[in-house]
Amino acid sequence: MKAFYFLVALLALSSSVAFAHDPNPLQDFCVAINDTKVFVNGRLCKDPKLVNANDFFFQGLGPGNTSNPIGSIVTPVWVNQLPGLNTLGVSVARIDFAPKGLNPPHNHPRSSELLIVLEGTLYAGFVSSNQDNNRLFAKVLKKGDIFVFPTGLIHFQLNVGHGGAVAIAAFGSQFPGITTIGNTVFGSNPSISLEVLTKAFHVDEDIIKYLQKQPWFNNT
Ligand SMILES: *[C@@H]1O[C@H](CO)[C@@H](O)[C@H](O)[C@H]1NC(C)=O
Ligand SMILES: *[C@@H]1O[C@H](CO)[C@@H](O)[C@H](O)[C@H]1NC(C)=O
Repeated sequence: MKAFYFLVALLALSSSVAFAHDPNPLQDFCVAINDTKVFVNGRLCKDPKLVNANDFFFQGLGPGNTSNPIGSIVTPVWVNQLPGLNTLGVSVARIDFAPKGLNPPHNHPRSSELLIVLEGTLYAGFVSSNQDNNRLFAKVLKKGDIFVFPTGLIHFQLNVGHGGAVAIAAFGSQFPGITTIGNTVFGSNPSISLEVLTKAFHVDEDIIKYLQKQPWFNNT
């Protein structure tokens, strides 16, 4: 009887988890067609009869070129790069770091993230929501360590080791998306008004104008 209740609880849990994320496929697969005009919560499906192994295959995951102003580069393998991920609710990315490189504060609007450190040492963390009093949860991660960034929360990684660093990020969405905070707030097109930003950040216009002039490199 106990086992039965446990099973029911487990089923209830798994169905609620599934509904909170990308939709479950109602067929074996739905390989994305690269149609830029029509989207059906993701992409249209390729005719299953025309699907082949290459639709599920991605080659050459990095290393990425980290010669840029922030010293990090994300190589995403999302549905845009791997059409066979369409409707499956998973994807992955590789992150390369130059020495002292930073993957700046950002969030993924549609997914949690598992960060797996393959090489080097990263200082990584996330901040909880206002309702949780914006607590910082951070750790120094070494090769073989894993850290979780819950969905939607702002997080970052800084290379604090001596050489380069490499990490793999696993996602529970075929298209997690990235919103980088600095790029969004100070690098938007067109710019957010000075009145909004001076009041929001409690600084004067010169500082906001200075920030808006920065290059706001997009590392994805
Ligand atoms: C890396 O990027 C820099 C800057 O864009 C470029 O000068 C350099 O040639 C690139 N290196 C490689 C190996 O592609
Ligand atoms: C899909 O189309 C876009 C824009 O034409 C292109 O950049 C991208 O590489 C294409 N993706 C695939 C998997 O063919």
